[in-house]
Amino acid sequence: MNAVEIEQAISDLAEQPFDAAEFPYAFLEAFGNKDATLKRLRQGVSNKSDLDGVLQTNNIHIATCPAGAVTQMLDALRASPATAKAKAKFILATDGTTLEAEDLTTGETVACAYADFHDHFGFFLPLAGITTVKQIRESAFDIKATGRLNRLYVELLKDNPDWGTEARRHDMNHFVARLIFCFFAEDTGIFHSEGLFTTTTVSQFSDKDSGNTNWVISEIFRGMNTKLGDRAASDLRNWANAFPYVNGGLFSGDADVPRFSKIARSYLLHIGSLDWTKINPDIFGSMIQAVADEGERSALGMHYTSVPNILKVLNPLFLDDLRAQMDEAADNPRKLLNLRNRMAKIRVFDPACGSGNFLVIAYKEMRAIEAVINQRRGEADRKSDIPKTNFRGIELRDFAAEIARLALIIAEFQCDVTYRGAVQARAEFLPLNAQNWITQGNALRLDWLSICPPTGSGVRYHAEDLFHTPLDQAQIDFENEGGETYICGNPPYLGSTWQTTEQKEDLQRIFVGRTKSWKSLDYVAGWFMKAADFGMHTKSVAAFVSTNSICQGDQVPILWPLISGQGFDIVFAHTSFKWANLASHNAGVTVAIVAIANFSDVQKRVFTTSADGQTVVLVASNINAYLVPAPSVIVAKESKAPTNRALMVWGNKPTDGGFLVLNPDERRVLLQESPEARQFIRPYYGAAEYIRGLERYCLWISDDKLEAANSIPAIPPRLEKVRQFRAASIAAETRPASAFPHRFRQIQAVASRYSLIVPQVSSERREFLPVGLLPESSIVSNLAFALYDAPLWNMALIASRLHLVWIGTVCGKLKTDFRYSNTLGWNTFPVPNLTEKNKADLTACAEAILLAREAHFPATIADLYDPEKMPENLRAAHDRNDETLERIYIGRRFKNDTERLEKLFELYTLMTAGAPAGKNARTRGTS
Ligand SMILES: C[S@@+](CC[C@H](N)C(=O)[O-])C[C@H]1O[C@@H](n2cnc3c(N)ncnc32)[C@H](O)[C@@H]1O
Repeated sequence: MNAVEIEQAISDLAEQPFDAAEFPYAFLEAFGNKDATLKRLRQGVSNKSDLDGVLQTNNIHIATCPAGAVTQMLDALRASPATAKAKAKFILATDGTTLEAEDLTTGETVACAYADFHDHFGFFLPLAGITTVKQIRESAFDIKATGRLNRLYVELLKDNPDWGTEARRHDMNHFVARLIFCFFAEDTGIFHSEGLFTTTTVSQFSDKDSGNTNWVISEIFRGMNTKLGDRAASDLRNWANAFPYVNGGLFSGDADVPRFSKIARSYLLHIGSLDWTKINPDIFGSMIQAVADEGERSALGMHYTSVPNILKVLNPLFLDDLRAQMDEAADNPRKLLNLRNRMAKIRVFDPACGSGNFLVIAYKEMRAIEAVINQRRGEADRKSDIPKTNFRGIELRDFAAEIARLALIIAEFQCDVTYRGAVQARAEFLPLNAQNWITQGNALRLDWLSICPPTGSGVRYHAEDLFHTPLDQAQIDFENEGGETYICGNPPYLGSTWQTTEQKEDLQRIFVGRTKSWKSLDYVAGWFMKAADFGMHTKSVAAFVSTNSICQGDQVPILWPLISGQGFDIVFAHTSFKWANLASHNAGVTVAIVAIANFSDVQKRVFTTSADGQTVVLVASNINAYLVPAPSVIVAKESKAPTNRALMVWGNKPTDGGFLVLNPDERRVLLQESPEARQFIRPYYGAAEYIRGLERYCLWISDDKLEAANSIPAIPPRLEKVRQFRAASIAAETRPASAFPHRFRQIQAVASRYSLIVPQVSSERREFLPVGLLPESSIVSNLAFALYDAPLWNMALIASRLHLVWIGTVCGKLKTDFRYSNTLGWNTFPVPNLTEKNKADLTACAEAILLAREAHFPATIADLYDPEKMPENLRAAHDRNDETLERIYIGRRFKNDTERLEKLFELYTLMTAGAPAGKNARTRGTS
């Protein structure tokens, strides 16, 4: 169940008559417990309560009680040995009049009237496995309103299927935006009379059978689009005449309203009865977007970008600087005035704004700063100098764009109420002005300069105007001579495999002529390039939340030389962290924040999240494309290993249709039939075989032994199948290999004694790369890399934290897993010159790792390196290895990965300094 469904179920329960015996089960059912679970609880099989209540292990202990005894019952639940034994996370007591509950993990409590407990459903969401970010829990209203509006939306589409078609989708979205405005306006006094829309008008003047509901609402909308001076001639009904003139594009144009069924009418009245003063425009906007998107409805109420995460972008982008200037100004009226004037000219531009959450947060934060300025200057109730039209956006989806504009309108009103008082806010709020500042369209195809033009010029009218209505003026003039532009947002990230044809075309249009490799770029790269193009015309900074893949591996040499080629540097970055967008089950993607600017008078900063969740800031003289505070080098593939380490090669590629490879049974049968086949059978290892301990073998027949092999009856039929498979291959380079079916198609090398194996892909969860030693005569497949007969200290290098960090940074990831490359990761890995003593120490470390693993035989590498189960002795062996290696690098342990990377890039720059041009490191500006 998603948060909206749970809210609905809890609200339904609160409305039913209280049934003391049934309540605990009904409560658990509302949180998604299945019939079978409830049955077991009812039967007492799984009910662990010692207080005649219901105790679900690892979850909640609920008890009902006689009237007036709720607090005592909660105390009893808290003290109950069964509560502790069953590790209950919550306790809850109710007598049907009041309800009290406690989150035993955090100590937070709820005490409320029974009838209101549905308002606290967010408190209990962890019961449904939804570990919520705090803000979501505090957004009970937004979830509730989203759920109710969703029901209405779906109901209306049932009765008006044409409104769900492409042709009318905009009308439907626009209608919902108008409704939301009305609900908000009637609760906040904007309509001057409380409940004017829902209670006074729709409820009273539309028939109970809903036959004329659409006409009544349409008439109200017409009223809000008629200037007071024109009312006399407008033939408006009296009740519609009671509404103020709102317009501002919101009510202009067609006042068409979909037909209402009785159910839809009752839903509408119910939604209107909610307390809309509680709306959070940034959160509500994100949630409500899903209503118009069938594919997203299942996650209704869950889509939400947390304010702290948005501030990770906005604070370093410009808000910190404004606050610093405010602190510096103290009570100096002239300095404060300068800051206010500066803020009035700042434009914030989000070219993938969704429902406008970045813009709303930026607006609210700036209003807070302005309020302090006005207070210090003795002008507390001064009208804001910050025009909301300076918060510009582009958004592809129609409904989200509608909501973005509405969210800013609501945010403006709420700020006015907070900083200037409700009376002033109401007095000046209407009519809305008709400017268009959120453009609906494709940001990668639109001209950003026309939407957020360089300082001092106007904005052209856009055909894809938000409200699809003629505007009062053809362009909006900014009073922003000398103003700053801050570009921000979290544009969509999509790897090349997932891009639609149209999205690929978007990228092609931007990158063609600049690089031939644009197809490898993530979709988000388009926003960075457009921001750099925009900056060619005006001084600007852009900070986007991005997939970290654009700062790792293959994409780095494609994208970043183009960005730096246009004079942009990375001015701040937040290295990888989880972006909790979906509150469900802690889901979150790993992202980075990257900010680019085309001026240099800024202090560069790298933000990282430490192990204990704190943000650590590092001031840097330069930040390179890997987001490391180090020189701007780009690590390029190097075909040869430097002389101070062993050669690492790709494993051997069979291209055999599976006929040269044997599972243990096939091997057994073959050996039973022909014991002399043993000489042709070798242990066979790829990534899966090595990591998961899968047992496989292969036929390994050298040319000089072919005759002997062919004399074994089971072998020639296999070779014939290999021959046929290769001969029929669609790959031209494979077909000639049908001439030697006894051999692997590509043989890189084999060990004379032993091999070290490095799988190509390894789970991102592992803290170390799974390098290992194979039994003698093993064959390594093309799903791994191999070092043949290499000194064991090479294994110590590969098993180190230093190497893992380097690989994660320069080789990039396959989905989220480490993707190893010998040419990009091993041959480029900076290693100081090792003395014989160093090598001996590292050899001992590698041996200790192997011995520690051996002690847990037959545990596989996957078992041993599961971060939650890694054996202590193995962890200690790795720790010793890291200690030994890091002392060789800097004489002590590195403090963190940022420091590791700083050192590695410093050494890499030195290592490649003498390389001929075009080799190894690439300097900025080349591609
Ligand atoms: C990750 S969301 C971010 C929106 C909002 N900031 C939030 O946190 O919910 C990305 C937004 O970009 C929009 N989008 C996708 N492709 C776009 C394009 N080519 N042009 C403009 N917007 C686009 C999507 O519709 C979506 O609303």
